[in-house]
Formats: sequence, C-alpha cells, structure tokens
Amino acid sequence: MINAKLGHVKTVEEFYNEIRWQQEEAHGQDYCEQHDAIRKYASECKTYRELGTHQGGTAANAMLTGFKYIELVDISMEKYQKFLKPLAEKYCKDNKIVLKVKEVDSGSLDSIGPHVDMMLIDSYHKAFHMKRELDMHGKSVKKYIVAHDTWAVPELHTCLEEFCFNNPGWRVLERGKTNVGYTVLKKDD
Ligand SMILES: C[S@@+](CC[C@H](N)C(=O)[O-])C[C@H]1O[C@@H](n2cnc3c(N)ncnc32)[C@H](O)[C@@H]1O
Repeated sequence: MINAKLGHVKTVEEFYNEIRWQQEEAHGQDYCEQHDAIRKYASECKTYRELGTHQGGTAANAMLTGFKYIELVDISMEKYQKFLKPLAEKYCKDNKIVLKVKEVDSGSLDSIGPHVDMMLIDSYHKAFHMKRELDMHGKSVKKYIVAHDTWAVPELHTCLEEFCFNNPGWRVLERGKTNVGYTVLKKDD
C-alpha cells in the first residue's frame, strides 16, 4: 500500500479525505470500500478495534463514523505517529472518544483488549496470521468482523468462513468483490 503525502493536512476530516483520495488514485476505485461497509453497520455499534493501522486511513474513518471507543493495533505505529497521531488525539478529546493505541503483534496475547462491537482485520494478509488473530480476538467481538483484501487473497475469506463454521452464531453477511474486496461477518443476537 502507498504512503500518502499528508504533511499539509490540519484536521482528521482533511486527513481522511486526502488519504482516501490518494489510496484510490494509487490502487483504484473501490479500494476503500471497506470504509463504507464499516459506516453502514456502525449505527448499531459504539466500540471498535482495528488490527493493522498503517498511516491511519481506516482509523480516521472510524473516528468520523462516531465510535466512542477506538483501539488501534499495529506492530509499528511509526507511520500513524507521523501525521495522524496529533490530529487524532485532539479530535478524540474534543469528541469524547476513548482512543487506545497499541504497538504490538496482532496475533499476540499483548494485543488482547476489552469487548468491542466491531473489529476490522487489515494487517498481515496470510491465512495463518488471520487465524491467530481470530483465535485471539474473535471471542471479544460482539457484532461485526470486517476484513479487507479478501477478494485479492481468497484464503483470507476461506479462513473467515472456517471461523464461522467453528463458532456457531457467526455468519458471512456480505462480501465485496471489486478491487481487493472485503468480507463482513455478523454475530447473530
Ligand atoms: C494494509 S496496512 C493497514 C492499512 C490501514 N488499515 C488503512 O486502511 O489505512 C497493514 C498494516 O498491518 C501491519 N502489520 C503487519 N503485520 C502485523 C502484525 N503481525 N501485527 C500487527 N500489525 C501488523 C503493518 O505494519 C501495516 O501497518
């Protein structure tokens, strides 16, 4: 994925518009469709975790979506710290959002956090790693799991189907099949 040029942005809104534009310019229309899926289902959700933050495109999306607890997990937060960190801290303070940033492996015990309504998986795109992430975090997700790149890397979608098979109550709700694609899982009440 590209590293967007973001030195000129001054707010989370500007950051979001700019990074989405630059990512879609570089990777093609619909590259960021998972952002829209997150927004579509967020009305039933207050809390969010993401595994894989990079510069913070999906993190900024989560802030603007209206979650009140946002947890960001990445093995390196260097790129997040460069542009989004100061803007995000001010935005979250002003909007009473609890923001937790964890620089850890998303498949490690250290990455485990409290229960959340929605979790995005967008880290290391290998099925063995996603399986570890689902083992670590699946039980703490109450409503939705969204995963990016599941059309470009079909074994990721298969891994999510296996998670549903092994965890009754979870099902595939939606699969995006344009560009790199995405999958949404829902846990029935
Ligand atoms: C595709 S980028 C995330 C993009 C971000 N969600 C967005 O849309 O703006 C993948 C990120 O996963 C992180 N990553 C890779 N392996 C990881 C691991 N084992 N644990 C946590 N993060 C990891 C990388 O450091 C990178 O920042």
